[in-house]
Amino acid sequence: MLEVEGIHTFYGLSHILFGVSLRVELQEVVCLLGRNGAGKTTTMKSVIGITPPKQGIIRYKGEEITGKAPYLLARKGISYIPDDRRIFADLTVGENLEIAIREAKAGGGWNKERVYELFPALKNIGSRKGGCLSGGEQKMLAIARALMGNPEFILLDEPFEGLAPILVHALEGQIRKLREAGLTVLIAEQNVRSTLRISDRGYIIDNGQIRYHGSIEDLRDNEDIRKKYLLV
Ligand SMILES: Nc1ncnc2c1ncn2[C@@H]1O[C@H](COP(=O)(O)OP(=O)(O)O)[C@@H](O)[C@H]1O
Ligand SMILES: [Mg+2]
Repeated sequence: MLEVEGIHTFYGLSHILFGVSLRVELQEVVCLLGRNGAGKTTTMKSVIGITPPKQGIIRYKGEEITGKAPYLLARKGISYIPDDRRIFADLTVGENLEIAIREAKAGGGWNKERVYELFPALKNIGSRKGGCLSGGEQKMLAIARALMGNPEFILLDEPFEGLAPILVHALEGQIRKLREAGLTVLIAEQNVRSTLRISDRGYIIDNGQIRYHGSIEDLRDNEDIRKKYLLV
């Protein structure tokens, strides 16, 4: 579904990604693991056109999308959920969801009721202002809001970061349900344990280069690789 081939991305003159390649097949959950500063967010921003690569090719469903504007990619069904959330503080939880509704192109069928079914905790606080939510609630709302746009492919940037263990556990289950609902997911994370539990395949990025890719079993068993690039 998504093919990234040999991308080089820069911030000004700083060369950040060095020939990053990865693939995500339809209805897979794939993780991109790496330490802070490894290039995970830059990879995601390259895919959705916020920091277009200077070199390399990105394809979505076989069509080249390299450097296309973020809004065009959103229309194609690609949704990026940044790690800094971007919830509207003055709107209630319900309003944050309602303004994100977009008609499904390829089914999806998400609406407020279904999103509340997936995140019951949000239903209970539907009338609370976005600015009065805990970190965990904001994370859930950010994902819920993305679902209201009926995406086919979501890029989840550090969904577990800063969450209490009990919320991490709940979110693992919710991400599994996204896969069951037919979504394709790329997750960037440093939380190796949780991420490996919910992914089908994984990549490790370090200093802007993909150092490893393989099955989850291989990643779990390969302590040398994990120690070298992930410090766990
Ligand atoms: N806006 C920016 N301008 C310049 N350098 C940046 C910017 N954002 C990130 N970087 C640098 O790019 C590298 C990769 O960052 P990032 O992709 O955010 O890593 P990660 O998401 O894996 O923590 C880091 O060295 C970081 O300092
Ligand atoms: Mg990041």
